[in-house]
Amino acid sequence: SVRVHVDQPTVALPDTLYGLFYEDINYAADGGLYAELVQNRSFEYFPVEGWSSRRGQMQPMYAWETIEPAGGHCVATVEDATPLNSRNPHYLRLQIEKGSDGAGIANSGFDGIRVVEGDVYDFSFYAKRNVNADSPVRITLKTEDGDIGSGRIDGLSESWAKYDVSITAKETTSNASLAITFVGAGVIEMDMISLFPRKTFNGRKNGLRADLVQALVDLKPAVFRFPGGCIAHGQGLDNAYRWKDTIGDVAERKPNWNLWGYHQTYGLGYFEYFLLCEDIGAEPLPILAVGVSCGFRDPRENAGMDDLQEWIDDAVDLVEFANGPVDSRWGKIRAEMGHPEPFNLKYVGLGNEDHHTPQFEERFPHFVRALRQQAPEIKIVGTSGLGPEIPIYEFMNTHGCDLSDEHYYESPEWFLSQTHRFDDFDRNKTKVFVGEYASKGNRLFNAVAEAAYLTGIERNADIVQMTAYAPLFARYGFTQWTAADLIWFDEKTVVRTPNYYVQQLFSLNKGDQYLANETQFRLDLSLEGTPARGRVGVGTWASQAIFDDVKVIAGSETLFGEAFDGTEGSEVASVINGSFDVVGGVCRQNDVSATPAMRLFDRSVEADELIISMRAKK
Ligand code: AHR
Repeated sequence: SVRVHVDQPTVALPDTLYGLFYEDINYAADGGLYAELVQNRSFEYFPVEGWSSRRGQMQPMYAWETIEPAGGHCVATVEDATPLNSRNPHYLRLQIEKGSDGAGIANSGFDGIRVVEGDVYDFSFYAKRNVNADSPVRITLKTEDGDIGSGRIDGLSESWAKYDVSITAKETTSNASLAITFVGAGVIEMDMISLFPRKTFNGRKNGLRADLVQALVDLKPAVFRFPGGCIAHGQGLDNAYRWKDTIGDVAERKPNWNLWGYHQTYGLGYFEYFLLCEDIGAEPLPILAVGVSCGFRDPRENAGMDDLQEWIDDAVDLVEFANGPVDSRWGKIRAEMGHPEPFNLKYVGLGNEDHHTPQFEERFPHFVRALRQQAPEIKIVGTSGLGPEIPIYEFMNTHGCDLSDEHYYESPEWFLSQTHRFDDFDRNKTKVFVGEYASKGNRLFNAVAEAAYLTGIERNADIVQMTAYAPLFARYGFTQWTAADLIWFDEKTVVRTPNYYVQQLFSLNKGDQYLANETQFRLDLSLEGTPARGRVGVGTWASQAIFDDVKVIAGSETLFGEAFDGTEGSEVASVINGSFDVVGGVCRQNDVSATPAMRLFDRSVEADELIISMRAKK
């Protein structure tokens, strides 16, 4: 039983308590949330030295193939002599020989393109032709069995221009390809070849997959931390996520490789992230690199102090992009992109799991100072690092961050043992954002462990102001992080894990105040048969430290009890304060073995009735 003292509120639960952490990992953006169906639409996939792409995305023609009719011939090459623009330097050149009507190229999407019968798909591309080529262009959705939808574009010009046509799918399939074919010979050049479902979340152009966004809406998240994670500060400075590369016309964004092993178009960029936050009702919390990269490689990959200003400007300018007036430099771009109203950005995160290096220490304070001076309304979220020890929390406190972001991926047993983690935190220091956590698994036990952990967070919500499970998304067959992910999906299915439902349970039922309470557990086990003989495991998934009284009542003579506190060599008595009473049976308290179990009881019984009750200390 639980006794709640409704007249004894302890701490207020902040509105921000349950949030999300989104990173482009496991194809969470391209091939995931971002609804684009064409993969490698602008031929900007490229090999990166020292980087291994697990799916082989090192080639500019990845996901494309040529279509040659019987007896015909065409050659496709990726070129950069006359690009669409300098930020999108590569394009496809298709040379078609005479007698090759129907030659062209086809894209296979992300292992097949998913289309639904009756739905409309918007095709667009940039193209130019040489003087000899002046044919109609046929755009077709194809399966092995034939065409399932098509459109036509006439009259390509001799300089880059954008063309579009919509196509209605005549069948539902996950295995379509998109073919672009030509009649007549000549040279055609193409770039930014795109196919979007008309149905995106809120019907937005360049929009997001409705079913995946709905899974976020259903969590009612208060905060949305993005774009990472490790991709925020990158594997080397060239790979850091620079938000200025991700805004404006999608054809002019500067794509990059993703340290998780694939390429990213940035079609889902900062403007779209801010829109998404509006759509799902969450406070945006962008994470910026502080001129220090991820640390997988050479720790000297830090911006030189002479070059630091452009990184600091990124932080200050981002506030202007989100909140500035429409006549400010960055606010104007926001308005031109279709959002003159400010996004009301309130938080900026500085760094992600950075190491406690002298370079980090030297650079970080410059960002805090600049934001305090130029955007004093912004709350600064620093980074405490990875692991329970939170190596740089004190540093964040010293530099006056409003919150500091701590991360851990541990076993469920660890989460159960940490329900009191914040009980003794200094309440006058920097507040905490548990910005990434997961108990390494998507089983029910993991979810229960996370739920137990969240009860400790709610009790300490004066310290922990925000939380976010991580990672958020994983596409089947495209994963880099399989230990645990909140939402799994493929091209048509969205799987909400047990961990998801725990997040939802807490988020949708968040109270305003934490109330003082006492808990009494009573487990009544009636064993069939008299006397019954067997082994009964009575497990309680809570930290033993919370129990101060345990009674075991057995209806027959023999009862052997063992209790573990999960610590090698510790004794039962120290766990339960010696209040281990047995009525009607014999209990033997064993010394604890090296069992790293969190179960309080695991006992052999011979009894016709066994009642165990435990009273919680807090
Ligand atoms: O969530 C996956 C990764 O785990 C994040 O990119 C990083 O911040 C953490 O180490």
